Amino acid sequence: MNKIEDIVPQNLPEHLAIIMDGNGRWAKEKGKHRIFGHENGVKTVRTVVENCTKMGIKYLTLYTFSTENWNRPRIEVETLMRLLVSSLRKELKTFNKNNIRLNTIGDISALPKKAQRELSEVMEKTKENTAMTLTLALSYGSRQELQSAIKAIAFKVKNNIISPEKIDETIINNHLYTQNLPDVDLLIRTSGEHRISNFLLWQIAYAELYFIDVFWPDFSEHHLVEAIKNYQNRERRFGKTSEQLT
Ligand code: IPE
Ligand code: IPE
Ligand code: MG
Repeated sequence: MNKIEDIVPQNLPEHLAIIMDGNGRWAKEKGKHRIFGHENGVKTVRTVVENCTKMGIKYLTLYTFSTENWNRPRIEVETLMRLLVSSLRKELKTFNKNNIRLNTIGDISALPKKAQRELSEVMEKTKENTAMTLTLALSYGSRQELQSAIKAIAFKVKNNIISPEKIDETIINNHLYTQNLPDVDLLIRTSGEHRISNFLLWQIAYAELYFIDVFWPDFSEHHLVEAIKNYQNRERRFGKTSEQLT
């Protein structure tokens, strides 16, 4: 069994992003309702967050609810929103104890008012924390993010605030929800699906991808450490040759 202590603290991903997938199938396998899977998924979130702080990861971003997830049955969407509110309430203390700052990306205004209030309260109460930034992607879709960034830039061009020649990667970055986050270094997806599902398309340009065949509620410290170890054994060349790196 892998343990947190096995990780070498040098060469950690600065920004770890996770597509937490497989709650529904995990529950179905046990003859239970999908909701049971989501409830157990929350437990995994708690241990992953705790283990990431222990390891010293600076940025953890969790794909919690996508723009496309609004199309799920109403009862499931409502339960997910309720779970979000109750977990935030429970976790505030832990966030402060572990020096975690809460952040969000996505169209937060689309969430129920109660969830919005809870989120802004927890973000306000954790804003001075510095060990790790935990970002929840909520009502998040990468294409929708890019669309609103392009719109915002176009308006600035129209109003002579930006000249078109000046548009570069930095300006684009500054108009994304992730403006205060570094690029993703490692992206993990659970549940055996090998797709990105509209998550951080711009920000994963050079991320290492790691897919694991385990449903999210079963994703444990062992699997997390395995993913980090795997990352640490990769050579990130960013277009260069191997020889240029040494
Ligand atoms: C991930 O698990 C949680 C959310 C997308 C909210 P799923 O609910 O997608 O579980 P599967 O993929 O149907 O098993
Ligand atoms: C991606 O999972 C979204 C989240 C994990 C929040 P989905 O289960 O919605 O993705 P698809 O639909 O299988 O691609
Ligand atoms: Mg899924």
